[in-house]
Amino acid sequence: MSSLPYLDPTLPTEQRVADLVGRMTLPEKVGQMLQLTARDGVRHLVEEFHVGSILHGSPERVREAADLAGRTRLGIPLLVAEDCIHGHSFWTGATIFPTQLGMAATWDAALIEQVARITAVEVAATGVHWTFSPVLCIARDLRWGRVSETFGEDPFLIGEFASAMVRGYQGGGLDDPTAILACAKHFAGYSETQGGRDASEADISRRKLRSWFLPPFERVAREGCRTFMLGYQSMDGVPVTVNDWLLNEVLRGEWDYRGTLVTDWDNVGRMVWEQHIFPDFTAASAAAVKAGNDMVMTTPDFFDGAQDAVAKGLLEESDLDAAVTRILTLKFELGLFENPRHPDAARQAEVIGIAAHAEVNLEVARRSLVLLRNDGTLPLAGGLTAGPDGRAATDGPARTIAIVGPNADDPHTQLGDWAGASGQAEWLPDGHPREMITTVLDGLREIAPDGWTVTHARGADIVVTGPDPEGEFFPDGQPRPDVALPAAVDEALIAAAVADASRADYVVAVVGDRIELVGEYRSTATLELVGGQVALLDALAATGKPLIVVLLSSKPLVLPPSALNAAAIVYAANPGMRGGRAVAELLLGLIEPTGRLPISFARHAGQQPTYYNQVRGQHGHRYADLTQAPAFAFGQGLSYTTVEYSGLRVLTPTVGTSDTVRAQVQLRNTGARPAVETVQVYVSDTVTSVTWAEQELKAYRQVTVAPGETCLVELEVPVSACSIVDARGARVVEPGEFELRVGPSSRVEDLQRAGFTVVV
Ligand code: NOJ
Repeated sequence: MSSLPYLDPTLPTEQRVADLVGRMTLPEKVGQMLQLTARDGVRHLVEEFHVGSILHGSPERVREAADLAGRTRLGIPLLVAEDCIHGHSFWTGATIFPTQLGMAATWDAALIEQVARITAVEVAATGVHWTFSPVLCIARDLRWGRVSETFGEDPFLIGEFASAMVRGYQGGGLDDPTAILACAKHFAGYSETQGGRDASEADISRRKLRSWFLPPFERVAREGCRTFMLGYQSMDGVPVTVNDWLLNEVLRGEWDYRGTLVTDWDNVGRMVWEQHIFPDFTAASAAAVKAGNDMVMTTPDFFDGAQDAVAKGLLEESDLDAAVTRILTLKFELGLFENPRHPDAARQAEVIGIAAHAEVNLEVARRSLVLLRNDGTLPLAGGLTAGPDGRAATDGPARTIAIVGPNADDPHTQLGDWAGASGQAEWLPDGHPREMITTVLDGLREIAPDGWTVTHARGADIVVTGPDPEGEFFPDGQPRPDVALPAAVDEALIAAAVADASRADYVVAVVGDRIELVGEYRSTATLELVGGQVALLDALAATGKPLIVVLLSSKPLVLPPSALNAAAIVYAANPGMRGGRAVAELLLGLIEPTGRLPISFARHAGQQPTYYNQVRGQHGHRYADLTQAPAFAFGQGLSYTTVEYSGLRVLTPTVGTSDTVRAQVQLRNTGARPAVETVQVYVSDTVTSVTWAEQELKAYRQVTVAPGETCLVELEVPVSACSIVDARGARVVEPGEFELRVGPSSRVEDLQRAGFTVVV
C-alpha cells in the first residue's frame, strides 16, 4: 500500500492528488464531496456514503469517525468541521470569547487575531480541522437573528477583523499543526434580509453587492482564506448555490480564488424542497456541481442524486474531479495522510481552557464593553483601585449595590449563540462548566471591596418556552427549538427587586435577550426588551436610586425611556466566559471603558435600517412621528474622561489616485483618567456620478492619551480607498473634491472636517 504514489509524502501534492483521484470510484468521489452531520452516528457516513467530511461530531464520534476512515479502502482521512466561531463552541471547558459582535466592539484587530489563534490551538488538539468562521455578513436589519455572529454594520471594519481572524486560524500555514482552516461565510448578501427574516430572498443588485457586501470577502479571498461557505438565500431568483456570476465570474474569475467552497446546511436540498427551483435531487445535484460547489453540507440525497445525474448524462464523472481535487488538496496540505491530526488527549490537557487563554479572554471582554451613557455615576464611588488580592479597594464608606435583572446571573446568555447549551450540539446539554463562567453577579461579588454589600434579585423573566406547534424537526432535519413567548410581568419579582434597590446606594440592572430570541430561525419582529424587563426598569427608575443599565444582549435593542434616562448604560454584547468580571471591573473603575459601537442602536424597530452609511437622497431625516436618527450611532462609546479633538489638518490637500491622504488631528484628554481613544476617519465624496453613502469609515487609530495630555495623531487613507462603484458596477476613484471627517464617532456633530482634492 505504502508504495502507492498518493501515499508518498516526497511527491508533489498535485501528483498525489491526481493519483488518488484516478483510483476513486464514482461513489467515492461523490462521497468525498459530502459533509454530513455526525448527529446520528458516523459508521454509515463513512461506510455507506464515503463522506469526505463530518460536522457536529461529539468528541467520541470524531474519534470513531477518524478510526473508521483510516480503515477504508483508500484510507482517505476525514476533514472534521465545527462552528468554532467564538472559541471552541461545543468542547466542554474550552475558552469561550465574546461573540463576533462583542469582539468587533474592541475595534482591535490584533486582539481579534489572538482570539482566533487561541481558538485554533484549542480546536486543533481535538481532531477538528476546520472552523466555519469568520462571518463576513453585514448586519443591517437588527431584527435578523444572527446579528451577534457578525462584526457589525461597516464593510471596512468587517474586512479588517475578518482578515485578522483568518490569519489567527490559519496560523503559520496549513502544515502548522496548530492551524485550522478558516471559512469566510456566508458568501454573499445573506444578511440583506427582508423584514429581518432569516434566509429570505435578498433584494440586492450586483452593484450593491460590489459596493458593500463583496469587498470584505474579496479581501480574505486574496489573502488566502482557504474556504468559503455559500449563503442560503437567493438573489434575483437565483440561489447562491447555483449563482454562476457570483461563484465563477467574480470569485473564481476576477478574484482568482483557488480555495474550497462549501454549501451551507442542505443548500442543495433546499433548491428542491424549499425554493422549488428543481424537481428532484438529480437535477439539483447536477446544477450544484456545475456551478462549482466543492463540498455539499448535509444533503444526503446528493449521494444518489449526483450518481444519478452521471447515469442520466447530466454530469460527466470528470465534472466531479475539480471539486474532489480541491478537497483532497486541502487534506494533503494539512498533512492529514501523514498525520491525520486525531484528537490528542495530552495536548488537550495542555492547551484547552488554560489560564493564559482565560486572561486574553478577560482582556477581550473588557475591551468589548461600550459605555453609552454616564451622568458621572460611573465609575462607582468615584472609581476604585485594585488591591493586592484583585479586589477593588477603597478608604471610602461601605456601599450597597443591588444587582437585578434576568441576565445578571445567567451563564448561558453570557456566552450567547454557538456555545455550550445554545442548542446546536446535544452532547453538552448543561453547557460549559459553570465555574468557568463569571456572571455579572459573580464578578461583583468577586471584586467589590470588602465590606460592601451586593444583593441580587432577578426582577423579571424574559421568555417562557414551549414546544413548537409545527413539530419537533424542521423539514431539513434540524431540530426545531422551543418557541419563545414573552414572559408575563411578575409583580412579586419586581417588588423584591425594588425592595433591594430602595436599600441600595446603586442599582445595576442587567437586562437583554436570551438564546430563544437569537440565532438562525430566530429573527425577532420587535427589538424591545421582552417580558417583564421594561416594567422592571420603570419600577427601578421610580425608586430614584442611581440606576446603571447593563444591556447584555446579542444585538442592539430598543431601550425604554427609563433606561435611556438612567444614570449610565453599558452595552455588553454576549461577553463570554469572563464577561461578568469585566463588567464588574468597569463599574468599579478598575479599567477604562474603551469599546466603540460596531453597529447602531435604533430607537424603534420601525426605523430599520439604522446603519450609518446610508445612500444619499431621500426626503428629510424624520419619519412623521419619529426622528430617523439612531439612539446610539456607529462608532459611539464614552470613556471615563473626555477627549477633545481639534485642528484637523490635511497635509496633502491635492493628491493623485495612487497617493495617500495624510492628515493630523490634535487630541487633548481634558479629564482625570486615561483614555484609549478610537480616532475614526471617515471620507465623504462631495459629488459622485451615482448616489453613494454620505460618508464611509476608511481608517481608524487607537491611541492612549494620559490625563491632561495633548497629542498629535497622524492619519492616513490611501486614495484608492476613496472609491465608489459606478453605474456600470466598476469600482473607481472619481477625481474631485472630498472631505475627511475625523472624530470619536460617525455622528456628524462629532466630526472635524477638512477638504482634499483628488486629481488625475
Ligand atoms: C448553518 C449556518 O448558517 C452556518 O453558519 C453554519 O456554519 C452551518 N449551519 C453548520 O453548522
